[in-house]
Amino acid sequence: MNERSPRDEHAIAAMAADAAMAGSADDFMRKSIAHRYSYNFSWLGVPIIQYPQDVIALQELVWADRPDLIIETGVAHGGSAVFFASMLELLGGGTVVAIDIDIRPHNRAAIESHPLAKRIVLVEGSSTDAGVVAMVADRARGAQRVMVVLDSDHTHEHVARELELYSPFVKRGGHLAVLDTIVERLPGPFPGRPWGPGNSPGSAVGAFLAKNDRFVVDAEVSDKLLITVAPGGYLRCVRD
Ligand SMILES: C[S@@+](CC[C@H](N)C(=O)[O-])C[C@H]1O[C@@H](n2cnc3c(N)ncnc32)[C@H](O)[C@@H]1O
Repeated sequence: MNERSPRDEHAIAAMAADAAMAGSADDFMRKSIAHRYSYNFSWLGVPIIQYPQDVIALQELVWADRPDLIIETGVAHGGSAVFFASMLELLGGGTVVAIDIDIRPHNRAAIESHPLAKRIVLVEGSSTDAGVVAMVADRARGAQRVMVVLDSDHTHEHVARELELYSPFVKRGGHLAVLDTIVERLPGPFPGRPWGPGNSPGSAVGAFLAKNDRFVVDAEVSDKLLITVAPGGYLRCVRD
């Protein structure tokens, strides 16, 4: 048993090793992605493009890690930014720096008029832009514990660059979540999208972990979810 979960890690590992169960989960993921399942939900009134299982996992991580700065790349409608803001509000403090290359006026208006807007700093620009990173670094200087969530452009090159730029902000015990690693496991192609197997958040995480000894996959997270867009994408920092 641990702080994040009432179940012990052996029970979770046994469930994940159950091939029939894992196969059913994979089948559900493939079919539900085809139905754009992640577009079905909202958080406190704002659309969030996530599977509910991942939102629960992120909630557990935020509560356990108690970050005072959450850096999120990829805002879309703003539901995930509002979700992180709501967690920080419950924790009693902290800021979400939410970065998107294209913040549509109606999305900005909804986020800026939300009761939790005071916890959100919206940054419009590419997450890999030097000016954006410098601005984030400035914020991070005053933070004790930083969490990073990458959910923007899902190409290998972009995610690899984000990992290079944003992983240094996370310190030992903290988490860095790379969403949509599942693209690596899907048959593809993805019409109208540049990414696919071999060119995905999953391939970027694989390359990152091969040359970085500060992070490990927090296997318990995806093992217990099974239904997740981020298999192997929840990374725990084990070294400063
Ligand atoms: C999957 S959506 C984000 C979903 C959001 N995190 C949520 O949970 O509701 C991806 C977003 O990434 C943004 N994006 C694409 N390329 C980007 C880049 N280079 N830098 C920052 N954001 C980018 C898109 O504009 C889009 O809004």
